[in-house]
Amino acid sequence: MVLSSSGLWQELVLVPADQTFIMPDAMSFQEGAALPVNYLTAHMMLFQMANLRPGKSVLVHMAAGGVGIAATQLCQTVSGVTVFGTASASKHKVILQGGLSHAIDYRTKDYVEEIRTISPKGLDIVLDPLGGSDTQKGFGLLKPMGTIVVFGAANSVTGQKKNLLAMAKTWYNQLSISTLKLMQANKSVCGFHLGYLKDFTLIRQTMDTLLGLYVQGKIKPRIDSTFHFEEVADAMRRMHERQNIGKVILLPEPKKEEEKEQEKGEEKEQEQEKEEEPAEASAVPQEEEEAKPEEVKEEQG
Ligand SMILES: NC(=O)c1ccc[n+]([C@@H]2O[C@H](COP(=O)([O-])OP(=O)(O)OC[C@H]3O[C@@H](n4cnc5c(N)ncnc54)[C@H](OP(=O)(O)O)[C@@H]3O)[C@@H](O)[C@H]2O)c1
Repeated sequence: MVLSSSGLWQELVLVPADQTFIMPDAMSFQEGAALPVNYLTAHMMLFQMANLRPGKSVLVHMAAGGVGIAATQLCQTVSGVTVFGTASASKHKVILQGGLSHAIDYRTKDYVEEIRTISPKGLDIVLDPLGGSDTQKGFGLLKPMGTIVVFGAANSVTGQKKNLLAMAKTWYNQLSISTLKLMQANKSVCGFHLGYLKDFTLIRQTMDTLLGLYVQGKIKPRIDSTFHFEEVADAMRRMHERQNIGKVILLPEPKKEEEKEQEKGEEKEQEQEKEEEPAEASAVPQEEEEAKPEEVKEEQG
């Protein structure tokens, strides 16, 4: 496995030896690609910064994303931790099966209200990849002695194109607090960015811990989908449309001819099914239409 902040979308990569890690025998290459960034990020935030301990409560935003799933699994390595997660409703089943305690559909519900209903005193830890007003909400949800770790600004990315308004809004709404206020609140605000962390001794130690957890079966990266290099646009589209649950992986080897043929066949089948659908669909109302007079007759009889 390798860790590099950029330049990995190619067949051959050159990285310093201290940024490479030996994969356990049972680990697939796809898992090897999925593990480092997501799990290092989640582990360092939870254990180095927020000091996760038994019985604590944690809010994980983007709970169906790669980091969110890693954080949820890592929370389960500590006893009695309650994990709240925000995600689209369609992803709740998977993330609840993955060990989340409470899934909240942030698109239709106010997650602050939902959390306050379940846990009126608030939370011990908030992991915030959203930024802007969500950092303020997260800070407000913290119990005294609680910690919020900000590690992204996803709120500044919306829609198909670069959105300057969303960026400005996120920047304008970001949490700004004086150290005096922090002291009075008894709360901590942390920032984390793996790309800027150059302490490879700490990274290696954390990676050793993670590989130990993997071997014990306590963590397992969830692979959402795989795409060959020539399908990179499809891979990006899947993420951009927020369809993924877990990691989207790029495979350097070109797609095999048989796979292409099989896909063409499947596409044809789907097209045929679609063409047949309207005929079937129109058959239903017809049957209903036919049934109605019978019903009327029965009622009259
Ligand atoms: N600082 C660091 O070191 C570090 C390291 C890794 C990742 N990150 C950051 O952590 C975040 C999560 O990364 P990831 O790899 O876990 O993501 P991911 O696997 O691509 O998950 C993205 C999912 O998050 C949800 N989401 C909620 N609000 C969103 C928004 N405003 N924009 C886009 N997606 C949104 C969507 O699911 P729903 O359908 O549920 O809405 C989306 O499918 C990213 O912002 C990334 O930049 C930071």
